[in-house]
Amino acid sequence: MITSEATPTARESRLTLARLLPRLHKAFSEEVETAEWQAFEARLDDHFPVLFDLLWRIYGPSYDFFFHVERILQTAAQSWLDRDADLKSLDAIREGHPHWYQSNRVVGAMAYVDLFSGDLAGLRDKIGYLNELGVTYLHLMPIFKSPAGDDDGGYAISSYRELDPAIGTMEDLRELSSELRQHGMSLVLDFVFNHTSDEHEWAEKAIKGDEEFRKYYRMYPNRTEPDQYEKTLRPIFPDAHPGSFTYRTGIGQWIWTTFNNFQWDLNYANPDVFNAMAGEMLFLANAGVEMVRMDAVPFLWKEKGTSCENLEKAHLLIQAFNSLARIAAPALVFKSEAIVAPDEIKKYVSEEECHLSYNPPLMVQLWNSIATRDATILSHCLPKRFQLPHGCSWVNYIRCHDDIGWGFEDRDFWEINVNPQDHRWFLNRFFSGEGDSFARGKMFQHNPQTGDARICGTAASLCGLEKALFEQDEQQTEMAIRRILLLHGIIFTIGGIPLIYLGDEIGQTNDYDYPSDPEKDGDDRWMHRPALDWDKAELRKDPETVEARIFSGFLKFSQIRKNNHAFQECHTEFVDTGNHHVFGYFRSYGGQSILCLANFSEQHQDLPATRLRQLGMRKTFTDIVAGKSIVATQKLTLEPLQFAALM
Ligand code: GLC
Ligand code: GLC
Repeated sequence: MITSEATPTARESRLTLARLLPRLHKAFSEEVETAEWQAFEARLDDHFPVLFDLLWRIYGPSYDFFFHVERILQTAAQSWLDRDADLKSLDAIREGHPHWYQSNRVVGAMAYVDLFSGDLAGLRDKIGYLNELGVTYLHLMPIFKSPAGDDDGGYAISSYRELDPAIGTMEDLRELSSELRQHGMSLVLDFVFNHTSDEHEWAEKAIKGDEEFRKYYRMYPNRTEPDQYEKTLRPIFPDAHPGSFTYRTGIGQWIWTTFNNFQWDLNYANPDVFNAMAGEMLFLANAGVEMVRMDAVPFLWKEKGTSCENLEKAHLLIQAFNSLARIAAPALVFKSEAIVAPDEIKKYVSEEECHLSYNPPLMVQLWNSIATRDATILSHCLPKRFQLPHGCSWVNYIRCHDDIGWGFEDRDFWEINVNPQDHRWFLNRFFSGEGDSFARGKMFQHNPQTGDARICGTAASLCGLEKALFEQDEQQTEMAIRRILLLHGIIFTIGGIPLIYLGDEIGQTNDYDYPSDPEKDGDDRWMHRPALDWDKAELRKDPETVEARIFSGFLKFSQIRKNNHAFQECHTEFVDTGNHHVFGYFRSYGGQSILCLANFSEQHQDLPATRLRQLGMRKTFTDIVAGKSIVATQKLTLEPLQFAALM
């Protein structure tokens, strides 16, 4: 029973539910047992007011509002009834421990199935490898049916209910998710809900002239409206196509395509689209997906005269999806992919919206410190926005399948007298290997009009391993390995879920062969998505090799994280180390406290013992990374590029 009128629409929501419930029950009465229906009603009692309020704010008042609400409830009821018993037990477990993803035992990894293991069957053979690394969160890149040829790495989805046949079947996916669960791993998949491919059934119907499905997309008969919108839009893939619209001959329409011209943006102003996509999301959840990566969230809602990014209704939509998940698939957790300005990123993170978020500010600040050998900007900017609302966490990564874009907040840079535009340009030049840089990356989507560019490259190549191995320079190889480990040491300990791009743990360098594949040619992001080289992975067993040194470093971080509850949750206290090359923070939880220090320079760096004592450290402590006990009478000396965790 709802007693409090928490939202302005609480009364309406109660009346609506009272009116709709009997009809809903009747519609499902043949397939449902009483107890199961009661469980569903209880869920609605708890969560419908929030959903109703959100839908009202997005779609009300319109003459058919209540009709849409009813349809959305039907979708929820159907999905709940289709949900397997073991997933419902998982729901119960997760509702009992809703913040399980904040555990220090959680370690994430991501991969393309075809490049990692060929297909889903092959992936089951690699569970041992993932276990070895301590992975408990596995993000598989899109595996659904998509157009032949360029499909933006699977981000152009033609069916949310059929897999790419080369990868496997839905049945394989269900089996995999349950096998992963038995091994303590949660399956993470993308919910690509801003757009479908132009070969999705809805798009095909729209092409054939079906008015109902034309309204699923944003289509314009001439350039008038596209021109008005484009005045304030930023092009995402200017190399692939300028602007955000694509003209489709045959139907004579300009179609909104934020990304590639075969990725049609869905029209969320149409409540049918919300309902249809809610069904697809819950279908994913019922296949055993425990977390959805909410793809391209900033772009969901469009309004003239705005950038059409991060608009209020984009947030409300995600919240509405979230409240539906609370009703029909409560174990489901959301992670936002908002690669936008730091202040905007945090707005997606709350228990009502996305529980988790990629942490691009950390990622770009880390690369900045790698290039400058200095932690000033990192120490200045990161603490400002690190704290998240209760129950939420960052997903910390140093790179993913996408390019690295220099998403700093300009004013942070002005505050320390650095010109942000010049600095971005310095980073682009540095990471694309200009001058005496150790990095071997490549500029991506350079826009000569704005001077913007982003960077492609694997972690190892950007850290100098590619160059050092090519030059057979042992000392530089050592430095490159240390850089890779330094960055990962931080993401494993700073607070939140560490996310490894599989292949980085054995130091895989750039793939320069991708242009020979016509599906990949023209999209330089494929340079940093090499197939996992299993021969190279075998070398992790020979301690003399570079692979073993990197892999064992990852393993160490994974173990340290799991063995120390200080790494639980996100309580991070940043400290001024008194040395601008050294970044530092305390992690504390349940009486345990660990000081993490990262030296970004290639020289030894000292921290005076007095500084350490001011920070509350005793004279003697242990570095749990090096496994050494240290007596700091006068000073603590950090090795070049050392990452230390002291307690
Ligand atoms: C996300 C993906 C990116 C893709 C885009 C369009 O940002 O990470 O790879 O190009 O969405 O779906
Ligand atoms: C832009 C988008 C981001 C996407 C990326 C793909 O940065 O904001 O969502 O992942 O482009 O390259």
